[in-house]
Formats: sequence, structure tokens, C-alpha cells
Amino acid sequence: MSNTNDSPEMRLLEVFPSPVMILTEKRELKYANSAAFEIFNIRALGSDLSLSIRVPELLEAISLAIKEKKHSEIEISLTVPFYRVLRANIISNANLVEFFNASIMIVFLDITSQIFSDKVRQDFIANLSHELKSPLSSLIGIIETLSGPARDDENARLRFLKLMKDETHRMKRMVDDLLSLAKFEGRGSIKPKDQINIIQLLNTNQELFLARYKKNLIDFNMKQMTEIPNITGDQDELIRVFQNLIDNAIKYGEENSPVIIEVFMVTHIPDLGGKGLAISIFNKGEDIAPEHIPRLTERFYRIDKSRSRELGGTGLGLAIVKHILVRHRGILKIESKKGYGSTFIVYLPINNSH
Ligand SMILES: Nc1ncnc2c1ncn2[C@@H]1O[C@H](COP(=O)(O)OP(=O)(O)OP(=O)(O)O)[C@@H](O)[C@H]1O
Ligand SMILES: [Mg+2]
Repeated sequence: MSNTNDSPEMRLLEVFPSPVMILTEKRELKYANSAAFEIFNIRALGSDLSLSIRVPELLEAISLAIKEKKHSEIEISLTVPFYRVLRANIISNANLVEFFNASIMIVFLDITSQIFSDKVRQDFIANLSHELKSPLSSLIGIIETLSGPARDDENARLRFLKLMKDETHRMKRMVDDLLSLAKFEGRGSIKPKDQINIIQLLNTNQELFLARYKKNLIDFNMKQMTEIPNITGDQDELIRVFQNLIDNAIKYGEENSPVIIEVFMVTHIPDLGGKGLAISIFNKGEDIAPEHIPRLTERFYRIDKSRSRELGGTGLGLAIVKHILVRHRGILKIESKKGYGSTFIVYLPINNSH
């Protein structure tokens, strides 16, 4: 149903880009602009609002505003056709009667994005505080032990100093990673501009990828490769992507089995489309359960927190990978099979003339 009424009152309401409704004091819907028709499945003008809107708390708030002749505000959420949060301003004003022959006006504002960014920020602060709390608590514990019971114990002192060193290094890494993340997020729209040959980049940085491990843990499989085109990207950022993924593959993969890296061309990048390069990093080992896969790139998300922490992880590596790839108009795909292992595939566009 749409608005066919072309009265001056209706034309006035159409000026508002947000949904607006006019009600009588009997809660009858007198007018609604197109934005309101679009957002609510309005059945009929001239009948009770409850026939068009089935949000009990809104109907109640309106009834109350009518009764008390007062302005009120309420937030409601709609789930159909998609999730949205609206703030409804309910205005009861006798001056409206002159124009609309009704005294209640409701103006809706869509505040979904504001709610979401607030929620993301709250979650982030909660996670960060939690992450910093555990190393800080253990440092406090160590300091207390060293200044009390273990004051004269040379062995304990050395052991605790090593623990303090590890914890402070982890906190330092977390802060560095968070700063990097903020930098990559901020750079979202700036074009990377280095011309990069991915095979060369992978070959020349092997030592960097393996810095924390024994040698010979990477197996490059370039059989399918003939000539690969260069891509436009940021050299340091892409090194960081592969450093993170190879580090994870070694860290969480089966001990002593090599990480297999393959590079190939694809005609269609998943989800994004267009020709691209795929760089897959495979490790044997325990599979990743499907419910974890979509969440791995969230900040601080780790499947086994204690294990990751033991291995020095902060849970920020894949979040950084994701942000770098977004900037490169690329994407990360994760596949994992029981009894087999996990593959992290980086897709990067060729001819990315963005
Ligand atoms: N190859 C893999 N196999 C199994 N699980 C993995 C693999 N790569 C990542 N994960 C899981 O994803 C989680 C998030 O990885 P991410 O790289 O973001 O953090 P991290 O490795 O714990 O810490 P950091 O990268 O900051 O050192 C890991 O804690 C681990 O549970
Ligand atoms: Mg990692």
C-alpha cells in the first residue's frame, strides 16, 4: 500500500526524510509519509495504529503520551526485513490540530549504526581490560612473592624475572598490535602502491617468517605456477599477512610437519569477484570447529585462550590480517577438515586499479 493522498498536509510530511506519522487522540493513524509506509507494513489509514504496528512497547508509550499530553521518547527494534533500531519521538501538541486535525506526531530516527558502534566499542574495552588484567595480576603476584617469601631465594628470583620478562613482552606486543590495527583501519581508503611479485616476496622473506622457529618448516609448492602477474600492494603489510598466517600454521599445526604454501591464479575471487591470486597456507593438525571459523578474525578471539597465551599469542594476528586484506580489496578464506588440517587462503585482486 502507498500514500495516494496528495493533500497539503501530506506534502508537508513528505518533506521529512525520516518516517513520520500523525495520530488522533484515539490512536487512529491519520497520515503517514512514504518513509513510514516503507519501514512499517502500514495496512490502513484511519484505523487503530495497532493494525499497522505490532510493537507493544511503542503502542503503550503512545497511549501514555496521549493520556498525559506529554512528549516522550522510546527506542524500538524491528527485525523484518532486517534488524534495525529506531528512536521514536512521540510529540503531543495541540498546535498540530490546526494542520492535521490531530494532535499526536511520531518521528522515527534510525539509530542502528550508532548502537552498533557503541556496542563494538564497549566489547572492545571490556576485552582489552580483560586481556591486560591477567598479565598485570601475575606481575603483581610475582612482585609480592619476590618482596616477601622469596626475597632471599636466588633460584626463585631468576625464575620470576624470566616470567616478568615474558609477561611484559606480551603486553608490549599487544599494545604494538593494537597500534598497528588502528593504523591499518585508519588507512582503509588509501591505495597501496608497490608493484609486488608474490612468489618473490614469499621466497625472500622466508627467514623472517621462520624467525621464531627451526628452519625447513615451509614447503613451497609452486608446481602450478607459470608466470604470475604482479599485484599492487603494500610490501610491508603483505609480509605481515604471511608472517601471521605462517606463524599460526606452525604454532597450531602438527609438530614438525611442514607448512605447505601454494600460489595459484583464480578467475573469480570468492564473495568479491574478479581475477585474482590465491596464496594458500596449509598445516596438518587438529581441525578448527566450524562455529569458530567466522569469528577467528575478531580481535582477541582465540579458540583455546590458555594455549594461545602459552604460545605468546594476543589474538590480534588474524584481525590485523583481515584489515590489511580489506585495504588491498582482498579477502581471507578459512577451510578446515577433521583429521586433515586447516588451510588459510589469501585472495588478492590482479589489476586492482582502485
Ligand atoms: N592454523 C591454525 N590452526 C588452528 N587454529 C588456528 C590456526 N590459526 C589460527 N588459529 C586459531 O585462531 C586464533 C586467532 O589467531 P590469531 O592469529 O588472531 O591470534 P593468536 O595466534 O592467538 O595471537 P597472535 O597472532 O597475536 O600472536 C588462535 O588463537 C587459534 O585458536
Ligand atoms: Mg597468530
